[in-house]
Amino acid sequence: MLEFLGPLLGRMHPLLVHLPIGILIFGVLLSFFPQKEKNTYLPAIRLAFLVGGIAALGAGISGFLQYQFEGFAWEDVRVHLVGGVLTALGSFGLFFHLRKKDVIQSKGKAFALGLGLILMITGHLGGSLTHGENYFTEVLPLEFQSFLGIEIQPEKGPQLPEENWEEAVFYSKVIQPILNQNCKSCHNPRNQKGDLDLTTMKGLLAGGEDGLVLTVGEAKHSELFARLILPKDDEKHMPPAGKRQPSKEEIALIESWIKNGGKETQTLAEAGISRKLIEQFILKSELPFYPKTSLAILSADSLATLKTAGFFAEAIESGSGLLKVSCTNFSGFQDSDWEKLSPVKNRIAYLDLSGTQVTDAILDSLEGLFNLTVLKLNETAVPGNSLDQLAQLPHLKLLYLNKTEVNLRELEQLSSSKSLQKVFAYLTPAAEEFPNSGKMSLPFLLETGNYSLPKLPSDTIVY
Ligand code: HEC
Repeated sequence: MLEFLGPLLGRMHPLLVHLPIGILIFGVLLSFFPQKEKNTYLPAIRLAFLVGGIAALGAGISGFLQYQFEGFAWEDVRVHLVGGVLTALGSFGLFFHLRKKDVIQSKGKAFALGLGLILMITGHLGGSLTHGENYFTEVLPLEFQSFLGIEIQPEKGPQLPEENWEEAVFYSKVIQPILNQNCKSCHNPRNQKGDLDLTTMKGLLAGGEDGLVLTVGEAKHSELFARLILPKDDEKHMPPAGKRQPSKEEIALIESWIKNGGKETQTLAEAGISRKLIEQFILKSELPFYPKTSLAILSADSLATLKTAGFFAEAIESGSGLLKVSCTNFSGFQDSDWEKLSPVKNRIAYLDLSGTQVTDAILDSLEGLFNLTVLKLNETAVPGNSLDQLAQLPHLKLLYLNKTEVNLRELEQLSSSKSLQKVFAYLTPAAEEFPNSGKMSLPFLLETGNYSLPKLPSDTIVY
């Protein structure tokens, strides 16, 4: 029947705390009031600490109830609670200390000052609990906030997945993030300019001091949109001049959303939003380094066969059907040994032939390796004049030709490759020729080891 009393008293804590605060501050101030031989205020000071102590006790009990019923975390309230207990004990202590005195001496004053300090710390912690840490600072100008070293987390705006963006909910994934990014700083529960909270659908539907801001189906009659397209110098233009302005697309999206009924659960597809309008918010996943395949992973048996033959072989990443193969420990590997790799050749994405006896013929064998992405031919007698064959490999991205006899003219044959990103040619004739090659430009990055990077047509940085 009376179970509501606990929670009710708990909720009265923010109200009740002001009683001890007021009374105790009065007591502390009075303790420092200039006095002659006899302190005429002493009875009042005593009374202040007695009544303040009782009030602090009551506030503490209600605070404990609030902690119990409102689900505060113990770590958050701990210090505040200890502070509250110390305040009550300190007040009673001062009362007893002053009971038989007729002047307040420096010891009593120091005690009173300490109590005042504890009171302020406790009060501050309590305020942070109910209003949030940045209750005061968040209304300061942004420049001043950053001057104070307060990190302002910028709102990111909408972010949609590349695949299936159509299924994203229009309101929660697009409209609300736009409002958060452009309007939230002034229209949130704590800072409701124009009595408007734009951080939730509920707040949005509730409208502001001039009434509703959303008229379903009619963007021009909805303040939520209409104010955005007012001339910038119109005093009703939103966001106010000088603040971040939403982009053309963002404004168009708000308009579409209203025209489509301003619904909370509609998807982008249902609202008929085109990819063009949403393009800038789609997160593009980086292209994977190795090609995508549907090849199933190679059986353990087949892997074991390769290993017994002398190769090092493993999947390029767990679950992938593509292989990383190295022949560097296959003593005496030569062109004719390639046959042993034929059964898995479609799977080879990374091939290390460094230091082997391969020749011309190997380049012919590599021809059909359409998944080959990394090829290492370091320290081989690879014939530079047939490099054009490698330019045909559709996925080759990295080519290692360190310590070979390849020269710059031969490397030029690789220019027709559409995939090649980097060629490594340390300690080669090409590396020596390159610095003096004048304006020679290659469509891939040439690493020659002497720290002079080739200028790409797209390069803007001059090394
Ligand atoms: C820099 C602070 C600031 C930002 C940012 C801001 N507003 Fe406002 N807004 C105000 C102030 C101040 C008022 C009250 C004065 C007025 O009505 O023009 C207001 C009022 C409004 C009103 C009228 C509410 C009513 O019923 O009177 C609407 C609608 C509104 N804003 C929409 C927006 C939208 C949408 C955004 C984001 C795109 C936005 N505001 C961003 C400061 C801001």
